Amino acid sequence: MRFQTYESTCDFEPVKLSYAIANGDALEVLSGMEHKSIDLIVTSPPYNIGKSYEVKTSIESYLSTQEEIISQLVRVLSNTGSICWEVGNYVDKGEVFPLDVFYYPIFKKLGLQLRNRIVWRFGHGLHASNRFSGRYETILCFTKSNEYTFNLDDVRVPAKYPGKRHFKGPNKGQLSGNPLGKNPSDIWTTIQEDWDSEIWDIPNVKSNHPEKTIHPCQFPIELVERCILALTNENDWVLDPFAGVGSTILAALKNRRNAIGIEKEEDYCRITAERVKALENGCLKTRPIGQAIHVPSANDKVASVPKDWENLSIFGERRGE
Ligand SMILES: C[S@@+](CC[C@H](N)C(=O)[O-])C[C@H]1O[C@@H](n2cnc3c(N)ncnc32)[C@H](O)[C@@H]1O
Repeated sequence: MRFQTYESTCDFEPVKLSYAIANGDALEVLSGMEHKSIDLIVTSPPYNIGKSYEVKTSIESYLSTQEEIISQLVRVLSNTGSICWEVGNYVDKGEVFPLDVFYYPIFKKLGLQLRNRIVWRFGHGLHASNRFSGRYETILCFTKSNEYTFNLDDVRVPAKYPGKRHFKGPNKGQLSGNPLGKNPSDIWTTIQEDWDSEIWDIPNVKSNHPEKTIHPCQFPIELVERCILALTNENDWVLDPFAGVGSTILAALKNRRNAIGIEKEEDYCRITAERVKALENGCLKTRPIGQAIHVPSANDKVASVPKDWENLSIFGERRGE
């Protein structure tokens, strides 16, 4: 694999990192990689739902191909490493198959241990008519052993009540929280409306998200950053075997980690290379980690009941009439 050098200046210190974009099939490229050379794998595999980059097949055949790839991933993962596997649902003739349920036994059979099943909640998406609309996907986080990297302090979020104190016991009167903030928990809502509208292709807002490219289902860099900050240390190696337009590579380099991405579509590899250049030159547009979510005010046109609907009973009830 040919490695490129990424150079940047962080806190006035020059940083030299390596990254590679392998344009090829995941299984083939992984077979040539060294044992235990990777500290974290973060990915969103194809869901077998007929996106432009995949051919829809039976769930059995899809999972058996994925199992071969996963066993290679486990081989290249270091003993202290983790795998974060981000998936939604496979849908066949209206029947929903939650992919994490199908993936779990594959990882378990290969000896991995589940540490978290994170729910990534969306604000928006497609509106279903025959079932409740889907508004979350999951990230399964597995480790290879009991000795694994987990830097909680690097991903803490501001506490809701930082001034809260113990009201009884030996610490009575003392502050009960952590000054660095609280554990972000396993429900992630950091990246909401603006991004989700993109994923589900709602018209008019398509080009609004700063990270949007031609890829039909990128995940946000911010989502990967939290995994990388918690589960690796600086200069570690991060791998994405289904790299798309390089969100994982960018999240890694941005946070001083080395990165490898494997992607079968040449166009996506080219876009990844352009995005890395933009990051290096300080002009890559990203949504900053932890940035507050836009909440429309009651006066915003989009948040008020349109005149045509004002007489409908549901809005009367909402106003307490
Ligand atoms: C869900 S997308 C990942 C998008 C990525 N997370 C991003 O933010 O850009 C899955 C990607 O896997 C790629 N892919 C599918 N099968 C592959 C294979 N066998 N080897 C390498 N890449 C593959 C697809 O082309 C697609 O870009």
